[in-house]
Amino acid sequence: MFDFPIFAMPLFGHRFIFAFDAIVHVFVSHAAVGGSIVLALAQYFAIKNNDRKFDELTYKILFTLFILATAVGALTGIGIWVHVNIINPAAIGALLRVFFWKWFVEWIVFNVEMILLLMFFLTWKSKPIGTPAKAGHFKLVVGYAVASWLTMAIITAILGFQMTPGNWLASEFPAKPDYLASLMNPSWLPSLGFRTFFAIIWASAGAIALSWFYGGDDLETREKGIRFFSKILYLSIIPMLGFGYWYYLQFPQAAKDLFVLGVITRRLAANPQLAVQVTLGLVTLVVVSSAYLFLRPKKAPMLAALALILGSGALIGEFERVREFVRKPYIIYGYMYANGIRVQDMPLLNKEGYLKQAVFLPPELRQITPENKVKVGEYLYLFECRYCHTVNGINSVKTRVKGWDEPTIYHRIGQLNSPATPYMPPFAGTDEERAALAAYLVTLNADSKN
Ligand code: HEC
Repeated sequence: MFDFPIFAMPLFGHRFIFAFDAIVHVFVSHAAVGGSIVLALAQYFAIKNNDRKFDELTYKILFTLFILATAVGALTGIGIWVHVNIINPAAIGALLRVFFWKWFVEWIVFNVEMILLLMFFLTWKSKPIGTPAKAGHFKLVVGYAVASWLTMAIITAILGFQMTPGNWLASEFPAKPDYLASLMNPSWLPSLGFRTFFAIIWASAGAIALSWFYGGDDLETREKGIRFFSKILYLSIIPMLGFGYWYYLQFPQAAKDLFVLGVITRRLAANPQLAVQVTLGLVTLVVVSSAYLFLRPKKAPMLAALALILGSGALIGEFERVREFVRKPYIIYGYMYANGIRVQDMPLLNKEGYLKQAVFLPPELRQITPENKVKVGEYLYLFECRYCHTVNGINSVKTRVKGWDEPTIYHRIGQLNSPATPYMPPFAGTDEERAALAAYLVTLNADSKN
């Protein structure tokens, strides 16, 4: 097993700290990819029309993107590496074995992307519009767009693999990955197309709002900016929906069944129509605010620009949440559970016990005795449950077992992956270990009575 000393995030839990970082990263990275394409189009338009004012507006939008991409984007990107390493070393270990060289190439392409962005941004002022040097400068933004799209292409291959690994094992045992099949997994191309267009839409929404802000008193430029970026946004909707549908078709049926639950939380599961209402509400917000801005660019209030950003941002956040949720109980579909246990190891763990395989376990806890039973149970909780639960905080296991006696808990642990909670991996271990975990969980109950 690929193991690390136990890291348990109190109160917030693993899911939350990772989600917080990842969502911020998704906003910025998609703004960077979509923004590079949108800016290249805007530059083309400005140069073709020799439009100095529109060129200046593009520069201001670029300035915002530059700060976001280099500061927040790069920082949260590194944050993801730190988080995955302490949160789920087994999963990142598995992904690295398959995607090592692709990630290595991605890292180089990412550096090229950043260098081109720096060069493009820093030399802008010295290559004014109307001079021959501007044409050469334009090539930088095209290079930047190509490089940032390529980083997305590689990362989506890895994300797609987690959802639909496809036929990626070339042999049964010893298992050898088929590198090409893992790259060409079924959801790669549809999800790449889907993300490309939603990144463009997201960046266009940002550029529309920024045109509003930076347009200032110059209403002509504001109008030009809003109209130009709105057209890009509208043209991208149909391809995004097309790729989105193709992408959806690739999801395993069990994942499709979890879609509604992914949009809302389990507490609201009794009202599945809420999922549709929330989504439609956000879509309406985007449509109405963007239509308002498009039709009345000079009159539309700042609120419309803000609503457009909020609505499209919330839709992206919702999409990422659903994609993460429906993959459960797996972290790599069909191959590894969310708690880092490989599906193929389950029979062995159930027969010989989890404790025998655990690396970071005090030696005196390897053998269960009446005295150490609760302590062993706590370790088993840490090994198998801490990925999604906390003791007292978000998705608290203490609240989940509230009022249950030890036999009930023991019984429920045997049914974690039942149809009522298909997103939980089954418990891995012997009956004795399962009883130890129940003995520990029931002590949490005693706490809450005090
Ligand atoms: C992949 C994430 C994940 C893992 C790993 C996980 N759980 Fe859960 N568990 C959940 C989610 C999500 C819920 C539902 C929370 C809610 O009700 O909103 C849940 C609910 C529960 C419940 C309440 C079930 C009910 O009938 O209401 C219990 C008990 C529970 N988990 C125990 C465990 C134990 C014990 C482990 C470790 C052996 C574990 N879980 C591992 C995600 C997970």
